[in-house]
Amino acid sequence: MNEKNPLKETFEQTQFQLAGHGKRTVSILKDVVDQVDENIQSDHYGAGKVIDDFQVKMAEFLGKETAIFFPSGTMAQQIALRIWSDEKNLKKVAYHPLSHLEIHEEGGLKELHHIETVLLADKNRVIEFEDVTGMNEEVACILLELPQREIGGQLPSYETLEQISEWSRDKGIKLHLDGARLLEVLPYYQKSAAEIASLFDSVYISLYKGIGAIAGAILAGDEKFIKQSKIWKRRHGGDLISLYPYILPADYYFEKRSEKMAQYFEEAREVAQYFNSCEAISTLPLNPVSNMFHVYFSQPKERIATLLAEVHEESGVGFSSYLTEKTEESCYFEVSLGDLYADIPKEKMAQAFRLLNEKLSSAIKP
Ligand SMILES: Cc1ncc(COP(=O)(O)O)c(C=O)c1O
Repeated sequence: MNEKNPLKETFEQTQFQLAGHGKRTVSILKDVVDQVDENIQSDHYGAGKVIDDFQVKMAEFLGKETAIFFPSGTMAQQIALRIWSDEKNLKKVAYHPLSHLEIHEEGGLKELHHIETVLLADKNRVIEFEDVTGMNEEVACILLELPQREIGGQLPSYETLEQISEWSRDKGIKLHLDGARLLEVLPYYQKSAAEIASLFDSVYISLYKGIGAIAGAILAGDEKFIKQSKIWKRRHGGDLISLYPYILPADYYFEKRSEKMAQYFEEAREVAQYFNSCEAISTLPLNPVSNMFHVYFSQPKERIATLLAEVHEESGVGFSSYLTEKTEESCYFEVSLGDLYADIPKEKMAQAFRLLNEKLSSAIKP
């Protein structure tokens, strides 16, 4: 029997929601398919106009020689690190302790590719230049994740990126960008995707996060690197006979949303301020540097779940469908601003936050 989950249920009933682009229903695909020419030819095992055109467009956007579409970022990045490790004949790479590869991929890099990892920096902060220069092991590649998702989407300064890039080049160490959310950080850095990508030897971006398509990833780099990536993609079974159901939406939502990242970023700052003005809440980071941040409550998860469910019901504004326990006395959820926020009337928002704050204030009274 399914256990009741009032937080999720009340969230799903709300008229407005703070984060995201909306429910991930079939309409995401239908909206695209309804508009395209039905005679477009399917791609075929990684070849064909529909996939080639999109790859060329992404290579240009990222300022790299070539780009290749992958069904997932997980597949793309393990392959990128494998190629750089093979090139240097050194099966060791370095990244953040909370990188996606380390905590969400069931050890794929180690199990499939036998690549060892060096964990850089304390897990509660971003990688700094000194972490890289202080590394006392030789590695083939360093992976930087921008923004660092598991710590609320924090970023190193642009100068730090430049320093790490120059140092790595001098040492003959490849630099790979986990840019799952690269577009989302461009407004903060005030740089183009190509400018940031130029600091890296290989770059991955996700097509379903801020862009909000169905699934998929782009891996970009020089000709030699991409030629090898294609071989590895085939080995991994990543050349689905047809990928167009992913590519058409990726292109459509890239066009629709890539110019909206500055709006999402400003909105994230506004919403974070609302949260930070409430009792017992602080956001990480305090002032967001992309469209995302984490909302921390210095109260037990069960208490906050009940309270948020009440706010959902009474205000009609959905804050979150879930909470993650941090300690017995604290919990958090993640917010990534998307299209939905702009639909919430300002007065409704202010009212929902007033209600949240009132409930928190009475909950924490001794
Ligand atoms: C930072 C980061 N890197 C890589 C990935 C992997 O992407 P995919 O789900 O396409 O495998 C994710 C997915 O959440 C991510 O957040």
